[in-house]
Amino acid sequence: MAIRPIIRMGNPILRLKADAVKPEHADSLVSIIPDMIATMRDAGGVGLAAPQIGISLRLMVFEVPASRATNLNGDKPSGVQVLINPDVTPATSEKELGWEGCLSIPELRGEVPRYKQINYTGFNGEGRPIEAFAAGFHARVVQHEMDHLDGILYPDRMTDLTRFGYVDEFAKIQEQNFSPDTDNKDGRANG
Ligand code: NI
Repeated sequence: MAIRPIIRMGNPILRLKADAVKPEHADSLVSIIPDMIATMRDAGGVGLAAPQIGISLRLMVFEVPASRATNLNGDKPSGVQVLINPDVTPATSEKELGWEGCLSIPELRGEVPRYKQINYTGFNGEGRPIEAFAAGFHARVVQHEMDHLDGILYPDRMTDLTRFGYVDEFAKIQEQNFSPDTDNKDGRANG
């Protein structure tokens, strides 16, 4: 298990559509998956997509911390989940705004519209099929990581760039509805 360097916005790998994981990748996943989990934890994130460590494959890890889960159906706290070759479909046309950070865009936060509910499929780290419904934070982190697999970064999704800035500047603003910390209580970047 090793902590791998996280590439940042500006690196063209983050703008590629990542390749599907195929059976021939199985051997390399044995080290990539634990490395991604260790790297995510070391960086203080709650999600990480393989392109963020320079590997352009459709693979993500994420968790739903109790501090973020809304406890709605589809948004219960969970430990680290591995999702390979995901397919994400909105389960509603409704979107909601929430603050996000990204380990590839350090020190910044932005308010990003995301579908409130999604269904997703894929495979876990053991190659078993996953079919899940997600809402709230769970839906948000999966959409954020899914975007990484398609070369999309969260600022691309923003509709109001006045709600984009340095987390320590936002922290100085007392007005509660202008604080990323209202949604992001533990201060960890989304991934
Ligand atoms: Ni990210």
